[in-house]
Amino acid sequence: MQKLRTQVGIVGAGPAGLVLSHLLHLEGIDSIVLENRSRQYVQERVRAGVLEQGTVDLLTQMGVGDRLRKEGLVHYGIELRFRGRGHRIDFRELTGGKGITIYAQAEVVKDLNDARIAAGGQVFFDVEDVRPCDFDTSEPKIRYQKDGDEYELACDFVAGCDGFHGICRPSIPAGVLTEYEREYPFGWLGILADAAPSAEELVYCYHDHGFALLSMRTSQIGRLYLQCKPDEDLTQWSDEKIWQELQLRLASDGWKLTEGPVLQKGVTGMRSFVVEPMQYGRLFLAGDSAHIVPPTGAKGLNLAVADVQVLARGLTQFYKTGSQDFLNQYSQVCLRRVWKVQRFSWWMTSMLHRFPEGNPFDERRQLAELDYVTSSRPAATTLAENYVGLPMEWS
Ligand code: FAD
Ligand code: DHB
Repeated sequence: MQKLRTQVGIVGAGPAGLVLSHLLHLEGIDSIVLENRSRQYVQERVRAGVLEQGTVDLLTQMGVGDRLRKEGLVHYGIELRFRGRGHRIDFRELTGGKGITIYAQAEVVKDLNDARIAAGGQVFFDVEDVRPCDFDTSEPKIRYQKDGDEYELACDFVAGCDGFHGICRPSIPAGVLTEYEREYPFGWLGILADAAPSAEELVYCYHDHGFALLSMRTSQIGRLYLQCKPDEDLTQWSDEKIWQELQLRLASDGWKLTEGPVLQKGVTGMRSFVVEPMQYGRLFLAGDSAHIVPPTGAKGLNLAVADVQVLARGLTQFYKTGSQDFLNQYSQVCLRRVWKVQRFSWWMTSMLHRFPEGNPFDERRQLAELDYVTSSRPAATTLAENYVGLPMEWS
């Protein structure tokens, strides 16, 4: 068995793991990131695309914002469309100048990998059989295999940044964590299309046939979603049928949806999920390993980044002063934000989707809610301030 040592062992090279590793590096703290997929796979995975202002500011401060600032699309509002009419929520006016940036998660991951490697950082891809152990002692270890050889990484702390299906959360002994969960009776069918976006800003649409979302990746590439069954069979959806359904749901007077070749398509199930606490001994869970939000609020990636900012601050305090005071508050500080973001994501999801068990009362109530949100300044402000991202709170 080959032995290695670092200060912080990080499992998972998604946004949470890579941002944490780079933040620690900037504070002079060593880490090793262990990822069970290839670098190409993690850099090509099609996922989120909306960055809160705070996420953009952090990436910029970390020195990984150059391409993001050049290629990202800055938006100062979204449209809510219902009964065939669009209503703009003006973020700039409602939040005192804040906006969001459209920049694909895959590009964020690429920029972070480049930055880690340029700084001599250690990110090991294609590792197998990762096993965090002894994290209830002051000498945790992560055992794993690579190219058939067995390794043991000794570290001071383990960061479980390995997503919802990762190994860190299930490694915590039974009975420690409490899980809070809600599944939704629908999913999203998403496409990436070689079609210039038909609107300048994102369009969230409520329709009798179900929710639809018009988003984008660049000024040439569209990203669109349709509410579907949670286990929708993609083979039943030809490209032509997808465009037909998007045309129908997004239709609005005097507006045209431009079609183009479908480059990629997939179905995502939707759930709300939180574990409490987000820490056990010297193992800290961050990002999707600790919580999942339904995608309607565009929050998953941003919440993962918020967690690791808190974790990096706690670890920095430990290495600079020896105090674990802030680390001991990690879970409590993160969960305050997690639950607010859960609430917002649940609310956006509930307002905009058709529920299979719904009835005419619920549908009229949803339309009244959309009418209220788009006609009351205080109601629009609550949407805007959550969408652009709540401020970080450190206690
Ligand atoms: P992840 O990005 O999941 O990273 C975890 C990493 O750990 C992965 O690279 C994984 O390969 C690795 N890993 C897992 N298990 C192990 C192991 N045992 N050993 C080593 N490494 C391991 N959010 C939105 O806001 N909008 C969207 O449209 C959207 N679409 C999504 C579509 C899909 C299919 C998925 C799964 C998520 C989507 N999300 C979306 C959510 C968003 O992408 C996540 O919230 C975000 O990726 C969280 O980052 P993370 O670093 O916590 O986890
Ligand atoms: C995108 C994803 C979301 O979940 C969302 O709410 C808005 C945009 C996107 O992939 O572009």
